[in-house]
Amino acid sequence: MVVARQKRQFFAHNAQADNVLEPPKPIYQEIKGQWDERLFKNDNPIVVEIGCGKGEYSIGLGTVFPEKNFIGVDVKGDRLARGSRKAINAGITNVAFLRTKVQDITQFFEPGEVDEIWVTFPDPRSRNRDIRRRLTHPRFLRLYHSILKQDGILHLKTDSDSLFEYTLESLEAFGCENLVYTHDLYQSDLNVRHYGIKTHFETLFYEQGFSIKYLSCQLTPKLTDAPLEDELDEEVTSDSESIL
Ligand SMILES: C[S@@+](CC[C@H](N)C(=O)[O-])C[C@H]1O[C@@H](n2cnc3c(N)ncnc32)[C@H](O)[C@@H]1O
Repeated sequence: MVVARQKRQFFAHNAQADNVLEPPKPIYQEIKGQWDERLFKNDNPIVVEIGCGKGEYSIGLGTVFPEKNFIGVDVKGDRLARGSRKAINAGITNVAFLRTKVQDITQFFEPGEVDEIWVTFPDPRSRNRDIRRRLTHPRFLRLYHSILKQDGILHLKTDSDSLFEYTLESLEAFGCENLVYTHDLYQSDLNVRHYGIKTHFETLFYEQGFSIKYLSCQLTPKLTDAPLEDELDEEVTSDSESIL
């Protein structure tokens, strides 16, 4: 009962918050190719966080890099509402939140509109039948490639060994260059890219003793003209609230 009431409050917040793009707001359908003019009112680089949850990481990066714009993407409206509230209360104007399934991401960004993508602590989906739902499966890499600038950068952070090894294989199959990675970010030279910001799941898993895996690369698909695979519209999770 309390949870349902809290969710209603989050959804009411989202409905009136300018930094949350979700249906049925007209801007939700119109923002593709217009993030600079319509939302951020500048032409700073755009960074997208995939599966941002409550948005801590987008907000953290937005604070460290005021000269970039950040868009946290997640299907769960109540989680986005927490990030939105936090950004509004802190007066942060270079962070916004987009409610959509990642499968539909190309409906919101023109080809080459995005400078960087962070995939932060995606669900490992370790069952074999769930492989295609991993957010680093080649079919998702293809979507990321289609919205990234030519020299755009993909970053991944995860606690999961299996998801990390899977992603390295997935990137090899898809095609990438300038790949750098570490199985223990905090003990690595690449820790300069940590920026002192932990996502919610990063905090949880690090405290449980998991090392944080990190990689970055540019996507260079081997088969650029292959048709998009089907099944992109499958359900995200059984408990996701529907997107209207
Ligand atoms: C394990 S949580 C990680 C949240 C956050 N990045 C962090 O590190 O704390 C994964 C998030 O990805 C979102 N997610 C998973 N699959 C998604 C999809 N296909 N489209 C949109 N969001 C998705 C979930 O709703 C959830 O909030």
